Amino acid sequence: MDKEFNTIVVIGSQWGDEGKGKIIDIISQNADAVVRFNGGNNAGHTVIVKDKTFKFRLLPSGIVSEKVVNIIATGVIINLSALVEEIEELEKNDIKIKNLYISDRSPLVLPYHPILDKFFEEKREKSKIGTTARGIGPAYSDYIGRDSLRIGDLLDKEYFRERITQIYNFKSKILSEESLGYKLDEIYNSQIEAIEKLLQKGVIITDTSKLINNLIDSGKKVLFEAAQGTLLDIYYGTYPYVTSSFTISGGVCVGAGIGPQKIKKIIGVIKGYTSRVGEGPFPSEIHDSIAEYIREKGQEYGTVTRRPRRVGWLDLVALRYAKRINNFTSIAITKLDVLSGLEKLKVVVGYRYKGKIIDEFPYSLNVLKNCEPIFEELPGWKENLLGILDISKLPQNTIKYLEKIEKELDTKVEIIGTGPERNDVIIVKDPWE
Ligand code: GDP
Ligand code: IMO
Ligand code: MG
Repeated sequence: MDKEFNTIVVIGSQWGDEGKGKIIDIISQNADAVVRFNGGNNAGHTVIVKDKTFKFRLLPSGIVSEKVVNIIATGVIINLSALVEEIEELEKNDIKIKNLYISDRSPLVLPYHPILDKFFEEKREKSKIGTTARGIGPAYSDYIGRDSLRIGDLLDKEYFRERITQIYNFKSKILSEESLGYKLDEIYNSQIEAIEKLLQKGVIITDTSKLINNLIDSGKKVLFEAAQGTLLDIYYGTYPYVTSSFTISGGVCVGAGIGPQKIKKIIGVIKGYTSRVGEGPFPSEIHDSIAEYIREKGQEYGTVTRRPRRVGWLDLVALRYAKRINNFTSIAITKLDVLSGLEKLKVVVGYRYKGKIIDEFPYSLNVLKNCEPIFEELPGWKENLLGILDISKLPQNTIKYLEKIEKELDTKVEIIGTGPERNDVIIVKDPWE
């Protein structure tokens, strides 16, 4: 008989910033390990515990609870100095990094990648992507192009010196030393300095696929934390306005080095409305005073770049697509409290393109950007949701809103966010059960 594994994958269902950090923090209270499996320090995951706010970029959001094993798996691209900075920030808040494992196979973001990211964006002019300027695209490209390094390479200084010299010479022939912004020695020294700091802090560089599989096989509760969202996935998102990694549930297998049978549950995190940072089509975007209301009340400003986020109504066409790509087994819905006070709520149930109705999320951006959303209106609610701990205490219209989502996605809501703090939540069903 097949073994039952205790694993949960948490995925962003929209364009990122759905509130994954908070959901991970909550579920990790009863987890044994939390694994980040994609993206880099382009991510910004907020966890608020009492009066302390943490913004995680590379570290798994379970790290606040200090009792879980924290793993940065192979699919994560690592900027070593950003990681050192993030750890030192936590240390200032009296959180000691314990049990942090990083995959020896994780690719590196080298010092020139953020420089190239900004440079490429400038040269793209009107077709810019609106990246976070953290060098993520150029670093993943170099890795796929086989002109990069993995973190494990730094453990053998001789090999590292040889390899970084080869790569630097190659790169500077194509891009010039000037455009790389750093000299070879500066790059070598910065990476060695950062890795030594990490090792001193007790961080372990290892084969994390082996570690993760051992944990799963021995029945431990392993939680996987995605960065970004489904519509930012390199294959299934709104390409080219996407990030450069696999943000979907399938990304767990690649990013963490596990077989698909080892995934038990997949929770889709859905914000009660939609937001997007950066460029690209956004059919349900709102441009009037309601957008201002939501942006202010929901504090929709980028965690990494502080850019104001674009906001829109909930898009059920896009969410049905996200459900299919990821096979969500349940939903965590966040920021419903932000919608309190709006008289009417709209949800997108279809698109109209050149007079025809489309109910599938289109492949072509040219189609998507010319789609007119078909809205359905639902009644809003006035009541403040903060402090409600039981689903039966929610206003009737909030319940109607939730039921509409459940019905359209044929998936049950398991967790409801009612405010930013860890305890502002309704647990409809224990996710580990
Ligand atoms: P992530 O990238 O998916 O982890 O999300 P971010 O942390 O970038 O953005 C989500 C924002 O919403 C953060 O400021 C969170 O503190 C906040 N947040 C999360 N859940 C809720 C919720 O249920 N209600 C409210 N009002 N804020 C929330
Ligand atoms: P979390 O994990 C929201 C967006 C950028 C840009 C595009 C490409 O916090 O949800 P990149 O720097 O990755 O090359 O930028 O992707 N983006 C995000 N948007 N949340 C994120 O992460 C994001 N990470 C990248 O704004 O549009
Ligand atoms: Mg974020």
